[in-house]
Amino acid sequence: MTGAGDQVAVAVLVAGDQAVALAIGDDGLALCGWVDGVDPDRPLGPSLLAAVEPPVTHAAADRAVPIALVAEAGSGYQGRPGIEGGREDGSGWAPRFGRPVIGSHSDELLEATAHDPVAQLDLTLRVAIDSGGLLTVDAELTNTGDRDYRLDALRIAVPVPDGGREVQSFTGRWSNEFLPEVTPWISGTLSIDNRRGRTSHDRFPAVFVGSTGFGNETGEVHGFHVGWSGNTTIRVETLPDGRRVVQSGELLLPGEIVLGPDETYASPQLLIARSTRGLNGISEAFHRHLRSRPTHPTTTRPVHLNTWEAVYFDHDLDTLCRLADRAAAVGVERFVLDDGWFNGRRHDRAGLGDWWVDPEVWPNGLAPLIERVTGLGMSFGLWVEPEMVNPDSDLYRAHPTWTLTVPGYEPLLARNQLVLDLSRAEVFDYLAERLTGLLEANEISYLKWDMNRDLVQPAHGGRATVRRQVLGLYRLIDHLRERFPAVEIESCSSGGARIDAEILRRTQRFWTSDCNDALDRQRIQRGFSYLFPPEVMGAHIGPPTSHTTGRTHRLDFRAATAFFGHLGFEWNLLDCTDEELSQLRGIVDAHKRFRPLLHTGRVHRYDHPDPAVVAHAVIADDRSEALVSVAQIATARSMPTGPLRLGGLDPGRSYRPTVVPLPEVRLGSARRQPGWLDGGAVIEGAVLASLGLQLPVLWPESALVLHLQATGGPGGDDSA
Ligand code: GLA
Repeated sequence: MTGAGDQVAVAVLVAGDQAVALAIGDDGLALCGWVDGVDPDRPLGPSLLAAVEPPVTHAAADRAVPIALVAEAGSGYQGRPGIEGGREDGSGWAPRFGRPVIGSHSDELLEATAHDPVAQLDLTLRVAIDSGGLLTVDAELTNTGDRDYRLDALRIAVPVPDGGREVQSFTGRWSNEFLPEVTPWISGTLSIDNRRGRTSHDRFPAVFVGSTGFGNETGEVHGFHVGWSGNTTIRVETLPDGRRVVQSGELLLPGEIVLGPDETYASPQLLIARSTRGLNGISEAFHRHLRSRPTHPTTTRPVHLNTWEAVYFDHDLDTLCRLADRAAAVGVERFVLDDGWFNGRRHDRAGLGDWWVDPEVWPNGLAPLIERVTGLGMSFGLWVEPEMVNPDSDLYRAHPTWTLTVPGYEPLLARNQLVLDLSRAEVFDYLAERLTGLLEANEISYLKWDMNRDLVQPAHGGRATVRRQVLGLYRLIDHLRERFPAVEIESCSSGGARIDAEILRRTQRFWTSDCNDALDRQRIQRGFSYLFPPEVMGAHIGPPTSHTTGRTHRLDFRAATAFFGHLGFEWNLLDCTDEELSQLRGIVDAHKRFRPLLHTGRVHRYDHPDPAVVAHAVIADDRSEALVSVAQIATARSMPTGPLRLGGLDPGRSYRPTVVPLPEVRLGSARRQPGWLDGGAVIEGAVLASLGLQLPVLWPESALVLHLQATGGPGGDDSA
């Protein structure tokens, strides 16, 4: 790494036959990369350094400069330094930590600390690998001096070897999240900066870099996600000497972090997966990792009904009770009362902050509705948006200074609201007391926790404060979860603007998008699925005509789309005919039958040659069965559309494909559709993977859900 090979040590983390090598030298701790096919009996040793040691070139420093995890300008690194900051007199801006001391090292974890006596800073790095080969990196910087240290950035750098040719990031907007965007890896820097103060709709903190043309099923890919619910930065950079690096971390506003003596800044966790099987391998690593965390939900995911699009702010006990009756009748298990229940909340211009039940609309409190809901066998959930306040509220009138604003400026309203400063003890205490009171006084087992605006000029005592706000939010949720461990929380932020791995440690569901249009949802959910598993993906069947796009879809397409997540309804079921209600009952029953598979299986996205065919599967761990979704999102380019190659199954077993009627099978128009549709065909997994399954002609904007059941045990026995 440094050119002085004898001074560099190697540390290896191991997951099965994969190893991740790190180099430890005078210029810090550097990730060398993933090595496949490692024999557990022959651990990797220092010889790998001989393979990667670069030459010392002309017109460059006298020793090769590494890409340390926290890359050092002081050691000659020519990209953006890993640490930016300094002391008031201008010193400490180019720290050099020297050789880190290993605190602990096992197959799964490496912890190293380095000290810079000149800049008076300590840097600790923790790199861990899980059983699927996913790496997490955490960094901590401590000011060991006796004067303040202003920290402007602490970013983690990971070199990407030959595989870095193309970059997939995400853009999007409200009601249209997770729009993938593929660009070539350029010779400067691609910067994905999020300054919205929440995870955002449009700068989702993840990037995938891979070989040319990588897709769901092919290519070498590295996937990076910054687990953080505030501002983030990801830089995909070509260094002046041609090396490729992805550097990421929290984006800090000017002056946001000033470390006093002995104070420590802890970075958000960076999650990194690497796959030689395209993006499917990345998803598998992420899903496995998230599912293995102790905070991940493991109980059956109840079917929801959410009242927002059914009644909006128009709360009326009788209507809501009738809605609850209908919900229970179609098999709903959790009834969530959305915005509009608290004091003065007749519209979105008033009430936020006044977290008590509106006495005019609810003269007897929420109890009559909750009793009706629980009496019907459903649990009850409630919408809250604790971080916010409307100027038209008793809270604001009493405490106008509790907001995140800069004195002297007129604050910018968004959705008529301001943001409360969660780092103020009195704000934290007020919210904790209000929410505790609500949960104690009512049988509420679920909170839909919303957050509906960006942070603009967020300041505490004049100083920028996004980080403290995010930490305050985490602390508030942690506080409530500790007090009410059985109460689950959904993370919502104008739909999907707060979806990330760190909020998921303390929440059990995401509201993926305010868009319930099945066509847009096909794509939004596909984007979501790259990192997050289906059991935390809120997916609702909306009314025939979408409230956010005005587009109309048949029930089969809406149902097939929502089927693959944590199912719910966002629909006024009082508008439904008896026939529709019985169809909904059938859909819910089918979901309940398949949800153990849907919520634990392996997600496998397919790349069909016709972009109008969007298909994916959820495959049981033992590959005994799978559910496949085939959506025809636009008019097919050709007729017929050709076969769909179904990878991910067991090539040695045979499968019987049958159509799951949701609520009925609606095919397109053809003189004769493929014969397997009658459920009589049994086809080898190897054939399904290589020749594929010939798709029927489908109408545009429709979907087919297939169940593939293995007819024998592993090893190809077809006798069962
Ligand atoms: C946000 C959410 C919606 C709904 C409304 C209520 O927009 O994303 O689902 O809860 O707030 O005001």
